[in-house]
Amino acid sequence: MSLAGRHVVLGVTGGIAAYKAVEVCRRLVDAGVHVAPVLTEGATHFVGETTFSALASEPVQTSLWDEASPIPHTRLGQRTDLVLVAPATARLLSAYASGYSDDLLTATLLATRAPVIVCPAMHTEMWEHPAVQANLDTLRSRGVVVVPPAEGRLAGGDVGTGRLADPADIVAAVEQVLSGAAATAPARDLEGVRVLVTAGGTREAIDPVRVITNRSSGKQGYAIAAEAAARGAQVTLVTTASLAAPAGAEVIDVVSAADMQAAVMPIAPDHDVVVMAAAVADFRPAVVADHKLKKDELAAAADGPPTIVLEPTHDFLVDLGHGKRPGQLVVGFAAETDDLVANARKKLERKNLDLIVANDVAAPGVGFEHDTNAVVLVRADGVDQDVPLTDKRSVARAVLDAVVALRTT
Ligand code: CTP
Repeated sequence: MSLAGRHVVLGVTGGIAAYKAVEVCRRLVDAGVHVAPVLTEGATHFVGETTFSALASEPVQTSLWDEASPIPHTRLGQRTDLVLVAPATARLLSAYASGYSDDLLTATLLATRAPVIVCPAMHTEMWEHPAVQANLDTLRSRGVVVVPPAEGRLAGGDVGTGRLADPADIVAAVEQVLSGAAATAPARDLEGVRVLVTAGGTREAIDPVRVITNRSSGKQGYAIAAEAAARGAQVTLVTTASLAAPAGAEVIDVVSAADMQAAVMPIAPDHDVVVMAAAVADFRPAVVADHKLKKDELAAAADGPPTIVLEPTHDFLVDLGHGKRPGQLVVGFAAETDDLVANARKKLERKNLDLIVANDVAAPGVGFEHDTNAVVLVRADGVDQDVPLTDKRSVARAVLDAVVALRTT
């Protein structure tokens, strides 16, 4: 698709990645785009106006009060085909999500009806903060396209998620949005559908202090809950994780596999779709001590190293799968390190599921503790779909697309 002749407002905010916005600007101008750079005050601390003036076809603007027009934001917002913010700081995301306008860029974002793309870049701790993620969920639910940050070296030498996405990927997102390929507002294809999602790893008590748990962060389950809510579903989230609750979801906090089972089973029949994204423990300590076990006590009780006797938990996904009512869909997850699809299909058949989301947890960047995931969607009707490495929200979108497809077949 040709970008020539299109108008883009390029918002640049105050982060170290502002220098990469220069490259984004250059690529857009090379593609024939009329780029109008809008720099926040913070951005000018990192990169000079002159650099953008030398590249862009439209004048660089930094303030609501620079030009003769008293309303530059409405003029910019109305004339443009798209507003792109790269990099977008946590402050910008927060202001935009809450409708707060204190400079030309935030005013333009509120004044425009054109599609908006934000490309967050910040330190990993900030990126993972529930407030930042909640603001992104709010923006996504309003149709804003988020190009997630990449993993890599950050300012100060730390390594983690938070680097501005590659300029080539940002320009590709601009092309996609302007060609209409990316939906600018989420489809409301789950309007009124009741969706139950479980998330996080369960914690099985050894004594009042110690637990056995697993590496699940709950992020994928939360992404599914947020995406379902954005698409109009009534969402119940049963979770062991304390992440920011997706807007509109009813949240039930649990700890152990037995708690989760007790929370899920009575309400499952009230839901049209059940997505078991939680990593439920398969075993728990057979005896839970009612006091903190002391080292000496443990050593004395065992002839050799202390042992913890385990007993199996009940696999209630089997009950959900075999007990589903007509029209209800049950989705499971499978974390595997070998024979991904074959093992997942066996689980799907044994548990009578409609869909299983198979995670190759041995692959880099996939599954536990990451912001990214790559899965294979294995369906009862024999259709398998690869979802290559992407952010967990995009995986959630693919899972729910498959759910919508299964509901209509
Ligand atoms: N699950 C469950 N109750 C359990 C254990 C698992 O509902 N006690 C659900 C998980 O939420 C997930 C799916 O079952 O959706 C994955 O189960 P998993 O433990 O990976 O599969 P198993 O069949 O136990 O096989 P294995 O551990 O051998 O891989």
